[in-house]
Amino acid sequence: ATRKQIVAGNWKMNGSKELLSQMSETLNSESFQADVIIFPPAMLIEQAVEKGLTVGTQSVSEYKEGAYTGEIQASLASSLGATYTLVGHSERRALYGESDEVVANKFAHAQEQGLTPILCVGETEEERESEQTEEVVARQINAVIEKLGIAALANSVIAYEPVWAIGTGKTASPEQAQAVHKFIRNLLSEQDEQIAKTLRLLYGGSVNEKNSELLFAQEDIDGGLIGGASLKPENFLSICKSAK
Ligand code: G3H
Repeated sequence: ATRKQIVAGNWKMNGSKELLSQMSETLNSESFQADVIIFPPAMLIEQAVEKGLTVGTQSVSEYKEGAYTGEIQASLASSLGATYTLVGHSERRALYGESDEVVANKFAHAQEQGLTPILCVGETEEERESEQTEEVVARQINAVIEKLGIAALANSVIAYEPVWAIGTGKTASPEQAQAVHKFIRNLLSEQDEQIAKTLRLLYGGSVNEKNSELLFAQEDIDGGLIGGASLKPENFLSICKSAK
């Protein structure tokens, strides 16, 4: 593919300073064809940057500053050296009530503060069974396009993560994942062919060192967003190496 692949490790609320040291030693001793990005807990961002990693936040506030206890401030993350942020991860949508509108606000604010958003989309098991996958994914992406215009997607990444595949050990097959990725690329090309061609689309959901190569080899899959397997340096290293 002409698109440079991305392997992103989302630690969620896991990890430690020790894991960060092990991970950076493992990753820094290798070079990769893909861009490798780590999303550690927010409190480890500065240390991760100091260790030479490319770093993002797992979430970001939609507001610039103020009385929002516990939130992550985009400008501060950016000043510490973070360059990416996830927005709309399914756990944020399901557990913290983030609506499509809030996700679009976060996407906009992240870009304003110099963070590249990775917009996470995906259907639940129930939605897949009732054949609503395309509708759900289109709605989640269109919420951003309607608010910001298609041009805003030029400097972003989209991660397709079927909710039923997250943390379940149940991966979408390469064919299932490719079909949705192709749908997303077609959806974008209706509005902007250049963006559709260049935007990187990641797959997430139980990616591991055994299944990553075949997933990443699909035409419209440009790498992965890895949860559980990103907590084990050796496994994550194999996944990073499998991205071409
Ligand atoms: O952000 C990562 C995804 O939620 C995937 O998590 O690899 O543990 O299934 P998982």
